Amino acid sequence: MIRAETVAELRSGREGMAGPVGFVPTMGALHAGHLALIERAREECETVVGSVFVNPTQFNDPADLRAYPRDPDTDLTTMEGAGVDLVFTPTPAAIYPHLYRYRVIETELTRVLEGAGRPGHFDGVLSVVLRLLNLVGPDRVYFGEKDWQQLTLVREMAEAFFLPVEIVAVATVRDENGVALSSRNRNLGARAYGGAVEFARILREAGSAEEARAALEAHGIDVEYVEERWGRRLAAVRVGGVRLIDNVPAGT
Ligand code: PAF
Repeated sequence: MIRAETVAELRSGREGMAGPVGFVPTMGALHAGHLALIERAREECETVVGSVFVNPTQFNDPADLRAYPRDPDTDLTTMEGAGVDLVFTPTPAAIYPHLYRYRVIETELTRVLEGAGRPGHFDGVLSVVLRLLNLVGPDRVYFGEKDWQQLTLVREMAEAFFLPVEIVAVATVRDENGVALSSRNRNLGARAYGGAVEFARILREAGSAEEARAALEAHGIDVEYVEERWGRRLAAVRVGGVRLIDNVPAGT
């Protein structure tokens, strides 16, 4: 596996790579959900590029950025073991040579659900995804369905800017208790994990968004939102101080 830390190293490593090229962008702390993205990319592409970059512009809360789990050595070993051909691990200065003066701004869907409580979050996501796509130049890029709003926005951005890349959605990976895998799950203690199991179960089993909210609150779970949109029931909650999001088909 080639490791590129700078833009120049990425460009020279990317040169002459056999296509189609698949790309899996990540913020590290890799888990089986990321492995499913890499596996799908491996199945569909000749060459797979991964990235590990904890993108500061998508964190509206500095404490959340500080607390974000980081495990760079394990991430590299995991990427290599999963068959990634090139991993890009840039610094913030390499990705934002003009700081954050140039950014993608979307004015509607970034303001609801996840965006309502996290101003600037999705503009940060779109701003880094656009840069990474321009740098890596993949034929296909892989995103998990767990971050449904992110997936929706990235798809729209690709259409809006006529990006020559196919956006591939990969189903959410869940553990044996139905909890959607997330890097943030590492911060859950045993008690909070119980809350995460209830969150996944209630979201799936409730008859409506309203019913889900009432049942979550009855279990003492702090609900940020539960809403149905895009044919999905999407929710964000806090258990044991950890913010979790998930989504399931609506009206199930
Ligand atoms: O889903 C993520 O891990 C991040 O939002 C992404 C797409 C890698 C951009 O930083």
